[in-house]
Amino acid sequence: MIDKQEIEDNVHWYKDAIIYELHIKAFYDSNGDGVGDFQGLLEKLDYLEDLGVTAIWLLPFYPSPLRDDGYDIADYYSINPTYGDIKIFRQFIKEAHRRNLRVITELVINHTSDQHPWFQRARRAKPGSNYRNYYVWSDDPNKYKDVRIIFTDTEPSNWSWDPVAKSYYWHRFFSHQPDLNFDNPSVQKEIFKIMDFWLKMGVDGFRLDAVPYLFERENTNCENLPETHQFLKNLRAHVDQKFDNKLLLAEANMWPEDSAAYFGDGDECHMNYHFPIMPRMFMAVKMEDRYPITDIIDQTPSIPESCQWAIFLRNHDELTLEMVTDEERDYMYKMYTKDLQAKINVGIRHRLAPLLDNSRSKIELMNFLLFSLPGTPVIYYGDEIGMGDNFYLGDRDGVRTPMQWSANKNAGFSEANPQKLYLPVIIDPGYRYESINVESQQGNPSSLLWWMKRIINTRKQFKAFGRGDIHFLAPANAKVLAFTRVYEKQVILVLANLSRFSQAVEIELTEFEGFAPVEIFSQNKFPKITGKPYLFTMGPHGYYWFLLEKEEGYQGSRDALPQIKVDRWEELFAAQTVARFEQKILQPYIRACRWFGSKAKVIKSVKIKENISLGDKERPASWLILDFQYNEGLAELYQLPLAWVKTTDEESVKLINRKSMIAKLSIGGEEGWLIDGVFDEHFRNKLFNHLVKRQKIKTNGDQLVFHTASRSALKGEGEVNSKILSAEQSNTSVIYNGTYFMKLYRKVDNTINPDLEITRFLTEKAQFSSVPNFIGDISLQHKDQTRTILAMVQEPVPNPGDAWEYTKDELQHYFERVLTLPKV
Ligand code: GLC
Repeated sequence: MIDKQEIEDNVHWYKDAIIYELHIKAFYDSNGDGVGDFQGLLEKLDYLEDLGVTAIWLLPFYPSPLRDDGYDIADYYSINPTYGDIKIFRQFIKEAHRRNLRVITELVINHTSDQHPWFQRARRAKPGSNYRNYYVWSDDPNKYKDVRIIFTDTEPSNWSWDPVAKSYYWHRFFSHQPDLNFDNPSVQKEIFKIMDFWLKMGVDGFRLDAVPYLFERENTNCENLPETHQFLKNLRAHVDQKFDNKLLLAEANMWPEDSAAYFGDGDECHMNYHFPIMPRMFMAVKMEDRYPITDIIDQTPSIPESCQWAIFLRNHDELTLEMVTDEERDYMYKMYTKDLQAKINVGIRHRLAPLLDNSRSKIELMNFLLFSLPGTPVIYYGDEIGMGDNFYLGDRDGVRTPMQWSANKNAGFSEANPQKLYLPVIIDPGYRYESINVESQQGNPSSLLWWMKRIINTRKQFKAFGRGDIHFLAPANAKVLAFTRVYEKQVILVLANLSRFSQAVEIELTEFEGFAPVEIFSQNKFPKITGKPYLFTMGPHGYYWFLLEKEEGYQGSRDALPQIKVDRWEELFAAQTVARFEQKILQPYIRACRWFGSKAKVIKSVKIKENISLGDKERPASWLILDFQYNEGLAELYQLPLAWVKTTDEESVKLINRKSMIAKLSIGGEEGWLIDGVFDEHFRNKLFNHLVKRQKIKTNGDQLVFHTASRSALKGEGEVNSKILSAEQSNTSVIYNGTYFMKLYRKVDNTINPDLEITRFLTEKAQFSSVPNFIGDISLQHKDQTRTILAMVQEPVPNPGDAWEYTKDELQHYFERVLTLPKV
């Protein structure tokens, strides 16, 4: 038995949620009657889990004459029999919870269907009686004359005449949806009862439909009235008192200031849709200018800590244009409706893909914005595969057609006769279900569905998206939207090119100097942020998420590194203090290095085993072999060349690679830094010159030998230049004069080095031309005839990458391919 308590317990779960909105009837028909049902949804839960969403918002599923797609409820306590019954609903909740999916249902409390028994009773009840007063009546249809009409295309007034009651009744939506009278305490009690019923069953929260219109008062616009807020606060107190971790999500299509009022002081609704931001995302992409977005967010008040916006691109209704100015509305109509029939009420009845001309790059960009801006994203079913629409179906039905599962009959949605479907499937040539469906996209890792899966799952790894604050950056190029999302120590930089052309953009990031941006999707590291503006180039409709991370091994600022003062370089290794130097300076540095492979082990001691002096008074340097003893397992030898770089001012310090810095070291009163010698060009080049001259350096009986295969193998007259390759793994690689490749082994051993032996054998004995030729090596020859190989020099092979990256890429491609195969 699966317990619903298994669902992760978390009071603020809605802040990190990704909500998927769907209609039962549209999702999957399990019994072939042409209408989707709960059994069908149960069968498709694996799909939603795989998509990565964390909550399902179910559109109304109650018994209803379905004249407003179920928002006209005729019974609050049961399930429309076409969709199932309470038993299967319970099973659905259980199965959803088992997959860590929360369930949000509709609580339509502003109005009922005129078929609801309450209305039938009211119209017949005595005027003034309690039953009659379940609804709002008037003999005068001019009452509340300041109130706007919402469904402008169908309703001439908010009052309709009821011939039975012989009175007018109030309705903010369709005339078959009379508004409940919230001034009647019995109505309020009914609502509490309905809520308890569903919450007890395990529902995790409610979308409070049309919530600003609950009360009516003369000489007001009857929206957002104090009485409405007070009622919602009571509702919340009731829920909090009886249940844990439940959610109230308000549908208040208002300007930000009025919307934010629905959060109260954190004592009203937990969540609330941000309606105004939605059309502005569309405007910004069309205008190729970030202003509509930055402006509306600037107008949005900050909200209580426990609250959260819900943001969306499309839903089951028209793309509403109520919360824009007249000019903005004209612009939106002009830009986003090619056919006049797409207009409805104050909005546009299109799905996401048709609105964006079915442009994959625009669909990605808009979703990217949805997943980046503050709030919890809500995805409308079918938009994750780019479904089309059909406004010829009337009302808003064109965006409510069957989900497209496959290229089979009825898009794999139902076995019924196609004529029996509750609505026809999409056959528009640009969006026909034969090509736009889940099955074909699951099998193609480049599909929109896979892109959506990736962005959903990537977003879930960063709490900053759901919880962080937003701070806009203001680069001169207004076509690029740039902002940071910061939560605790997590900093994400978000960049979106709103234009259809490539852009270059310089962004002030001095606040993050020393951080290395890691592009989140690819995990690629970008160059470190310096004191200067950072230049990004972006492709058409391009976007980036960067995690701004302190550079690897960068423990706080440079000032946090140890400081050492000596009179002479040799003092570092003086018998009285060397132990401290080994434990306190060398050990922590090496531990943080990428190439140190024993990070998981407990180090017992670190001792300098060999110390070969390679410098002079001006530029002291020592080549160290260090003996690492661990609490468990075999001891290991690591090599670390040390060098001192004199610095005169901040500029000269900045030239030193931060990764190489071990300690601030002043010698004889002169300032400088103790660094990993490979990062000191002078030291590096010295190694090359020694190789050219096949130098042998005596040291305590041992000998440092620079060996090349033949005298002519290494040409090194004149200037030497060298650079360190950035792909650092367990070794460090240097390229000399663009011609020679030196691999400096970090973990060494005083026995045979198979890498060197094999390469040398293949070059010198087998004359095998398919490996980079062996040229030479640097080794330490011990008195006992053993050798420690420190470095090998080879011919470089021109190549566009390295084996490590190649292997990683191949593995990634492999896993992507495996993931798209049908599950067995
Ligand atoms: C909400 C719903 C919409 C419905 C209306 C009336 O706005 O989103 O679909 O028609 O309420 O219930």
